[in-house]
Amino acid sequence: MDKPPSGTPLAQLDSLPEKGGIAIDWQDMPLLIVRSGQDVKCYLNICPHAGRSLALPDGRVFVHKETNIICPVHGATFDVESGACTGGPAAGPLTTIPVEITGNDVRVA
Ligand code: FES
Repeated sequence: MDKPPSGTPLAQLDSLPEKGGIAIDWQDMPLLIVRSGQDVKCYLNICPHAGRSLALPDGRVFVHKETNIICPVHGATFDVESGACTGGPAAGPLTTIPVEITGNDVRVA
């Protein structure tokens, strides 16, 4: 699965929750976008534990105290800033999709 090319628009900053995350699809690729104020990160929305989505059925994502993404399936936790696994059954990190913000646009870096 190839990552989206540089410059690909993924979201509008003002459409993201101020503190939290959402799931989106880019073509057939599931992505997770997490925002904390002006800081936005993007990860492949596939949990490295059992390959499930990190989002709830309504597309929201659990972010605990703005620091950890929590997989709703078996409870693995991941650092918001790096995607590193910080607890639970996952053995590895989330796959990072680098992004940049230009004005209100969140694009692949
Ligand atoms: S699929 Fe995420 S913790 Fe198991």
